[in-house]
Amino acid sequence: MQWFYRIAYQLGFTPWERASTHDAAMISARFDREESERQPPYGRALDLGCGSGMQAVQLAQRGWQVTGVDLVPKALNAARRRARDAGVDVQLVEGDVTNLQKLGVGSGFQFVLDFGMFHGLDDAQREAMGREVSAVAEPEATLLMIAWSPGSRWPLPRGASAEDIERAFPAWKVIGEDAIGVSALPAALKNVDPRLCRLRHEAKG
Ligand SMILES: C[S@@+](CC[C@H](N)C(=O)[O-])C[C@H]1O[C@@H](n2cnc3c(N)ncnc32)[C@H](O)[C@@H]1O
Repeated sequence: MQWFYRIAYQLGFTPWERASTHDAAMISARFDREESERQPPYGRALDLGCGSGMQAVQLAQRGWQVTGVDLVPKALNAARRRARDAGVDVQLVEGDVTNLQKLGVGSGFQFVLDFGMFHGLDDAQREAMGREVSAVAEPEATLLMIAWSPGSRWPLPRGASAEDIERAFPAWKVIGEDAIGVSALPAALKNVDPRLCRLRHEAKG
């Protein structure tokens, strides 16, 4: 999938950004919910596959201390500009989410986000990502993940079920799963059945 994203950003073909803009109210309500269970300052948030930083910047504006990780320099440059224009600090790290500890993202994350990345990884990458995220997240942290339902649609993401996610994240439990709309996606993607899963890190502190 890495080559796919590099080409997509090069071409400016980023339908996920249109979907995020379209779903802004839904995403904002999800962030409200996380914050309602905490006291400000909310602490550290980790945006995995942060792309051009749409969610990372929004979280920083809401008072989170945000780190975003992505493989594609062009996406990170856009995220850097977005953060600067919004007047917020976001730590942006270029690298692979299967290697978070070596990338030096730090630890103590209370809130982890993956909007559209995990579902394109192969099994070995998923397992490594689960291990790395568990190592840097706090006990009781929340992970919000948007993933398409499983299907054969190469070269697009193959999707992931709640069971697939729990298999890669054995220290986490899915505590919520909702279907989200597809109206902002291109016509060819109307059957991807995107879901938003909420997971809780059950590791002991
Ligand atoms: C569908 S896009 C979503 C971007 C962003 N989360 C958003 O909603 O706008 C998936 C992102 O994950 C990144 N990505 C894919 N595989 C990755 C990996 N192994 N490590 C880090 N980033 C990755 C891609 O470069 C891309 O920016």
